[in-house]
Amino acid sequence: MSGPLQGRSVVVVGASSGIGRGVALRFVKAGADVALAARRSDRLGELVTEAGGGRPVPTDLCIKGDCEHLADEVAASMAPVDLLLISAGTAPLGRMAHISAEDWQLVLRTNLIGIHQVITALLDRLSSQAVVAVISSESVTAPRSHLGAYGASKAALEHTILQWQEEHPWLRFTTVSLGATVPTEFGHDFATDDIVEAIGAWADSGRSQAAFMDTEQVCNVLFEALGALVTAPSVGIPRLELRSPAPFVSDGDAAVAAATGSRDR
Ligand SMILES: NC(=O)c1ccc[n+]([C@@H]2O[C@H](COP(=O)([O-])OP(=O)(O)OC[C@H]3O[C@@H](n4cnc5c(N)ncnc54)[C@H](OP(=O)(O)O)[C@@H]3O)[C@@H](O)[C@H]2O)c1
Repeated sequence: MSGPLQGRSVVVVGASSGIGRGVALRFVKAGADVALAARRSDRLGELVTEAGGGRPVPTDLCIKGDCEHLADEVAASMAPVDLLLISAGTAPLGRMAHISAEDWQLVLRTNLIGIHQVITALLDRLSSQAVVAVISSESVTAPRSHLGAYGASKAALEHTILQWQEEHPWLRFTTVSLGATVPTEFGHDFATDDIVEAIGAWADSGRSQAAFMDTEQVCNVLFEALGALVTAPSVGIPRLELRSPAPFVSDGDAAVAAATGSRDR
């Protein structure tokens, strides 16, 4: 196999499911040398089987030692990293008045501090003009009920990425501001009652769209955009916004259909 991504060195954190998995799969299939990081090692093994390659490195980005182990594995066996994609993320679902200190600790530890730890650990393993991409959320700029702590964690993440860029001008940091995308495992831990309440609130406030984006299509777009960036070192994309073109709806049933992916595409 040959192509522009053949042999390129890529690290994907959050490669065990959803968007990170889909983008990682595409880079492996394009011939890149890809380190696959997430906590669930069985899922990483399944991805290697499906993709026909990739280097699974079980990693909890909340654990500094895991991030350092990932960096050691990359240093030992891979070329300097051309692309670090961090798709890992988590969200508590609930109205602000119901968000606990434990909720805050988990969401900030994962979406902010953990991502900081993994970038820090890998910094010396990055090539001189590497792309470092993180997945943020539309909820930063369009707050929606029940996702306040999540939106705040992503807003803080976005600021740190601006700061990383300021301090490392030759690296190319990209914040991907992502709209709602299905299916992924985002929300698998949400309580059904909370989801129903949240979707109703989003419809009431006109924050629901008639269709969410499709995960496979989002992965295609991210793969193409990030792959093109890797091969164009004079170009940076500080911010990429991916949104469904679907109209906003106030009908609760339409909002549920969009959120569950049950609307025909
Ligand atoms: N889907 C959406 O509608 C949507 C919209 C806007 C933004 N986003 C963002 O897009 C990104 C990907 O989400 P997704 O929808 O693809 O959800 P997903 O299927 O739940 O994927 C999340 C990934 O993060 C990993 N992860 C979570 N905590 C981790 C930790 N402590 N250490 C290492 N890896 C960890 C998970 O792997 P393990 O559990 O195996 O560790 C999994 O691979 C997230 O940052 C999310 O906030 C999603």
